[in-house]
Amino acid sequence: MRVFVTRQMTARVEAALASAFDCTFRRDPAGLTPAEAAAALADYDAVLPTLGDAFTAEAFAGPVRARLLANFGVGYNHIDVAAARAAGVAVSNTPAPELTDATADLAMTLLLMTARRAGAGERLLRAGQWTGWQPTQLLGAHVSGKTVSIIGMGRIGRAVARRCHHGFGMRVQFFNRSPLADPGLPAVQIADLRAAMQADFVVIAVPGGAGTRNLIDAAALAAMPAHGCLINIARGDVVDEAALIAALEAGSIAGAGLDVYAREPEVPAALIAQERATLLPHLGTAAEEVRDAMGMMAFDNLLALAAGRDLPNPV
Ligand code: DGY
Repeated sequence: MRVFVTRQMTARVEAALASAFDCTFRRDPAGLTPAEAAAALADYDAVLPTLGDAFTAEAFAGPVRARLLANFGVGYNHIDVAAARAAGVAVSNTPAPELTDATADLAMTLLLMTARRAGAGERLLRAGQWTGWQPTQLLGAHVSGKTVSIIGMGRIGRAVARRCHHGFGMRVQFFNRSPLADPGLPAVQIADLRAAMQADFVVIAVPGGAGTRNLIDAAALAAMPAHGCLINIARGDVVDEAALIAALEAGSIAGAGLDVYAREPEVPAALIAQERATLLPHLGTAAEEVRDAMGMMAFDNLLALAAGRDLPNPV
């Protein structure tokens, strides 16, 4: 089976793929354009794509040889799944437990960094401007015992909730599209998004895509208290970036911790200028064992296709 791998994988994953398939490993760090995606679909039996590869409707318009997009990543908003289906191409993803935990850990990293002004403190020290401990220097927000709202109580949202509840004694509330009978810990479901935004910390954990684009708009941000911090580990375009910048500039929220951006890798200069924003370069799953687990899951889906078995992780 001819497999096109759109980005460099870990050594373990590339070895596994090469042991089973006739693989082409692309070394360009940029995502595929729709034309490159179309060429991959025409020339290979399966493709292992990831975030940033433009499998838009246009990519499926020509001749299609591929039968599977074994996506590397749980999020697949870069793939037009309906167009793929119509062209006879299945799509799978990698909801590995390691991915869930790593992304939830990163949410806590951002929450703590933003609340406790860790980025600003490190910048001060590295600039040689730290003049010594002061009782009132770089005062941030205390985290333990505060209220967190989780927007999207799927696997990752629940993993964030567990960390907030068990690790920091926080009061957990959540907004979720469908009712959740048992969130697995003491947590209150809030039916109204704006009411859910009224918390000390708001963590965005919904899937990306057309259904959630700009879910967190100016009105939702306006519902947050002035001391509130917004954390986004989902997809950048779930938050209206311009409205977020305006809220930070106006001081109507106290901070933002972001791992994702609307037009990655572009990060607006106005966001970079915000001292109260913690900005990470989409590090959610960036640990070798996590990327190994994700790659091996994509590999398992390719193996299933080759053997004519049901895909373990269809989307
Ligand atoms: C995913 O799996 O969708 C992540 O964003 C990649 O870390």
